[in-house]
Amino acid sequence: MKKGKKLYEGKAKIIFASNDKKYVIQHFKDDATAFNNQKKAVMDGKGILNNRISEHILTQLNNVGIKNHLVKRLNMREQLVQHVEIIPIEFIVRNIATGSLTKRLGIEDGTVLDSPLIEYCLKDDDLGDPLVSTEHILAFKWMEIDELNLINKELNRINDFLQGMFRGVGIKLVDFKVEFGRYEKNGKKEIMLADEISPDTCRLWDVNSDKKLDKDRFRKGLGNLIEAYQEVARRLDILHEQSNIRPLKYTKPQAVKIKKKQ
Ligand code: TMP
Ligand code: ASP
Repeated sequence: MKKGKKLYEGKAKIIFASNDKKYVIQHFKDDATAFNNQKKAVMDGKGILNNRISEHILTQLNNVGIKNHLVKRLNMREQLVQHVEIIPIEFIVRNIATGSLTKRLGIEDGTVLDSPLIEYCLKDDDLGDPLVSTEHILAFKWMEIDELNLINKELNRINDFLQGMFRGVGIKLVDFKVEFGRYEKNGKKEIMLADEISPDTCRLWDVNSDKKLDKDRFRKGLGNLIEAYQEVARRLDILHEQSNIRPLKYTKPQAVKIKKKQ
């Protein structure tokens, strides 16, 4: 697959054309931003980790019938994905209240929600990605009602699967953001999950300590972001070869005296 010209550059990724109109190349950068680009830094290796983690998660979702744009990972920083037109809405699913929800509504941080809460934000950096309602989405024709119903169902399936997957490795899925895209199949518009799912787009807490293993380490200036992402990758059993994680302490075998048979 040949890499063509840059089609779009976002805060954490770049989209390049490929030699087939149906596919594009998604490149993961090391840039970290927060609060709509007000806080910025370059985190060495973040792009590599997110490329691998997102590849793993989207492959697992595909295996359980949640179709998405991933075709295959091409190299350390790039994946081949289906070319879709991104719907201008960020879909947020919350299991535990934190972040903007707690600030906006005064809900206590860490409140476990009775059932998953779905929120929609308009994807518009100039406006600061404002929260919008179903009525706004329909009134301004950002989506058709059928598309929205389908996505809501898909969001619950994605949440169920991801919660289970992370819980199995000792991580609470607090919340996450996903994006969907439209594409044409046999002359009909279809919808599929797109973008990425990584510690940049999820909140992940260790089940025992509530230690943050996601981009909140950067947003809140907690440090050790790369170590946290590596921890997620290690627990998901990916990234063995380039992991910097120290091996278990090596203890030199002790000589054992073998008693001579009498
Ligand atoms: P929030 O609490 O800041 O609204 O974030 C909710 C979730 O969405 C959290 O997992 C982080 C993710 N998120 C993004 O992926 N991109 C964004 O631009 C924002 C604001 C949040
Ligand atoms: N991605 C957004 C930004 O760059 C916000 C965030 O993830 O907190 O500003």
